[in-house]
Amino acid sequence: MVKGKINIAVSGGSTPVMLFSLLAEENKFKVQWSGVNFYWADERCVRPDDAQSNFGSANNTLFRNTNIPKENIHRIFGENEPDEEAVRYSAVLRKNIAQVNNLPQFDLILLGTGEDGHTASIFPDQMELLTSEKNCAVAVHPESNQNRITLTGKVISNAERIYFLVTGNSKARVIESILNKKGDYLKYPAAHIHPDNGVLKWYLDKEAAEFTVNS
Ligand code: 6PG
Repeated sequence: MVKGKINIAVSGGSTPVMLFSLLAEENKFKVQWSGVNFYWADERCVRPDDAQSNFGSANNTLFRNTNIPKENIHRIFGENEPDEEAVRYSAVLRKNIAQVNNLPQFDLILLGTGEDGHTASIFPDQMELLTSEKNCAVAVHPESNQNRITLTGKVISNAERIYFLVTGNSKARVIESILNKKGDYLKYPAAHIHPDNGVLKWYLDKEAAEFTVNS
C-alpha cells in the first residue's frame, strides 16, 4: 500500500461479476474508492465495449455504479496489437506499482480458475507463462484461439494477497485435486500460484467445495 492507496488486479469471468454487483449495491459497503487502483490479471484481446471484455464486465457492474475516479482504472487495451499491449502494460505496472523482488507487487490479486485449472489466462498448454521473466505476456485460449494478455505467474505470486474466488460444481474436482495435492494436480496452472511471502486464500461456494470439505 502506498500513501493510503491499494493496487488490486481483478480477473474476468462470471464470479467477479457477482462480487462487483454486490460491491456496487447502493451504500452496502463504505468503500473509499478514491484509494483503490484497479488493474487486471488478464484481458481478452477485444474492444472494451465487447461483451467478452473483462474491463467491460467490471465497468458495467461496478465502475458505472460507484464513484471510482477514472484515473484509478488501469485497463488492459484489448483492442491493441497483443504483443505491443503486453509490453505497454508491463511498463505501466513497472511505473505505477511498487517493485518488490524486482517485480510489481500488487496488494491484492483476485483470481478464478477454470475447469481445466487455468488461472488468469495461464492455460495448461502454456505453463511457461508461470515462470516467464516478463510482467505480462500474450496467451492464447486453447479452444477459441482468442488472444489474451495475462499477468505472468511470477507477478501473480509476488502479490501480498492472492484470493481465489471459485463457484460452481464444475470446478469441484479441480479444486479437490489442487487443495489436496491429489494425483497430477501440478498439471493445473492454478496449483502453481502461491505467494512468495504473502497470503493465499481460496473462497469457494458449497458446490465448488463439494469434494474438498472434510476430505
Ligand atoms: C478470464 C478469467 C479467467 C476466469 C476463470 C473462471 O478472463 O476468463 O480471468 O481466468 O477467472 O475462467 O471464470 P468464472 O469465474 O466465470 O468461472
